[in-house]
Amino acid sequence: MTITQLSDQSSIPYELLLLADPSREIIDTYIFDSRLFIATAEGETIGCYVLSQVDQATVEIRNIAVREPHQRKGIGKLLLADAIRRSKLEGFQTIVIGTGNSSLGQLYLYQKSGFRISAIRPDFFTQRYKEKIIENGIECRDMIVLSREL
Ligand code: ACO
Repeated sequence: MTITQLSDQSSIPYELLLLADPSREIIDTYIFDSRLFIATAEGETIGCYVLSQVDQATVEIRNIAVREPHQRKGIGKLLLADAIRRSKLEGFQTIVIGTGNSSLGQLYLYQKSGFRISAIRPDFFTQRYKEKIIENGIECRDMIVLSREL
């Protein structure tokens, strides 16, 4: 598997980004000011993540996604490790990631990768998304922000 930055903004893999954020309208508010990294294996795009600079010291991972047939094989963990390594090399001091209160698997994965819960943004999802999001039988309402020092 190789992970490379996508340079051509015309070939953004929205179907992958939408796995992590169900609103294309919202994706388009940040994707053009962010960098998109694509994981490829045997000529197929199988995963991605987005890095957005928050300030001089902080970078945020957004839209980390692995195509469904390739999930639960360790690729998400490798994508996170790549984002952490790259951000550290670039001189950032903190990396953050936000997910929903109902995203139990993601909360597990991020904490296993060294992130700690650093903030909660109540009603983040209920205020921004028109459609109700239900995961693991729980309504997704609040954003859980996790951070890791680099
Ligand atoms: N439920 C329970 N455990 C999970 C889940 C889940 N949904 N997903 C991953 N894990 C666990 C794995 O069992 C594994 O545990 P282990 O280390 O003890 O063996 C560990 O997390 C790492 O799993 P990976 O196989 O590396 O994860 P994967 O390749 O499936 O990628 C990802 C994880 C990116 C969340 C993927 O499932 C996905 O694309 N989901 C849909 C999109 C999504 O929800 N993205 C995140 C939104 S938040 C954001 O983008 C900032």
